[in-house]
Parts: sequence; C-alpha cells; structure tokens
Amino acid sequence: MKDGQEVAIGSYRFEVFLDAQAIEGRITELAANINADYAGKKLLFISILNGSFMFTADLLKKISVPCEVSFVKVASYSGTASSGSVKELIGLDREISGYDVVIVEDIVDTGRTMEAITQSLRGKGAASLSICTLLDKPERREVEIKVDYIGFSIPDRFVVGYGLDLDGFGRNLPDIYQLKNTEHA
Ligand code: IMP
Repeated sequence: MKDGQEVAIGSYRFEVFLDAQAIEGRITELAANINADYAGKKLLFISILNGSFMFTADLLKKISVPCEVSFVKVASYSGTASSGSVKELIGLDREISGYDVVIVEDIVDTGRTMEAITQSLRGKGAASLSICTLLDKPERREVEIKVDYIGFSIPDRFVVGYGLDLDGFGRNLPDIYQLKNTEHA
C-alpha cells in the first residue's frame, strides 16, 4: 500500500529515500562509465537474481557497447563453515572464458554474497571480473571486497523497492524506500 511518500509492508513503515528520477539519473552515469571502460571488449554482464532484475534491465538499456547478459541466483544454506551459512552460485549455464565480466548486484551489505560469487567465478578463465552495484552499505562490511561501480553509497538502514524486498514484498516499487525509525528490519 502506498500513501504519498510512504509505504507499509506488514508492520513496517518505509519512507522514500531515492526516487525513480534520481535512480535513473545515476544509472545513466554508471552506464556511461561502463560504456567508456568496456569499448572494444568482450563484455558479459552476470545479473544476480532476484534483487537486481530491475537495475539490470534499466542499466542494460543504457549500455551502447556490444554485450551479452546472463542471470544467476545465489543459494544460501547452513553448512559446516563457522559463519553457519554457505553461499553457492547456481544457474551459470555458459562459458565465461575470455569475457570481461561485470557482475550486476542490487546491494552490497556484509560483502559475503559478492565474495562467494567472485570466488566461484574465479578460475573460469574470465579476462576480467568487476562488480557493479546499485547500492552499497559500507558500514556493514564484514569482508573486504572491491566494488568497481557504485550507484549510491547509503547508511545502514534497511531499504526496499526497485528490486529490493522485505520477505518477498516491495520489489515492484519504482522508488527506493528506507525503513522508518529503526536500524534494521
Ligand atoms: P551481503 O551478502 O550481506 O552483502 O548481502 C547482500 C544481499 O542481502 C543483497 O543481495 C540483498 O538481497 C540483501 N540485502 C542486504 N541489505 C538489504 C536491504 O537493505 N534491503 C533488502 N535486501 C538487502
């Protein structure tokens, strides 16, 4: 439900943080940087589902250099690692050898997802590997990760909209909303 600049998901209330116009403007800049950096390269985007579906679509419409795109998911399960959670990349059904790969992510938080993804892509022969995220929460980082393209660096506050969800809801919202009053959902 949307009421002016606020939305409610379950018992949580969110307020607009980045509107669709600001998001579009920043994506235009990111795409311009990528177009300049990857001219003449063999460019492959790997989009991380579900969260980055909207960002990937809008970013790719602004990419003018020849490119391909593929979609993968990250499966999390409890494992033997001391962190208690193991992440595995699933659905990569193609060769990446020789490609300059740009991973497209919605948000980098602790960095553990990106660490797992880059680890599983390394050794597959990519010419280069870089990360493009719409949002970055540097305060939450638990592992060091080099993020090459960042849309917005944001404070430690839970966000929904534009692909990002709370328990599956909110992905459809065209703006990005921030949780009101509390630190985390
Ligand atoms: P990380 O492994 O901690 O970096 O987490 C990355 C993933 O956590 C993202 O791809 C999102 O799915 C999820 N996530 C982290 N912060 C938020 C948020 O504020 N809203 C929605 N999802 C989030």
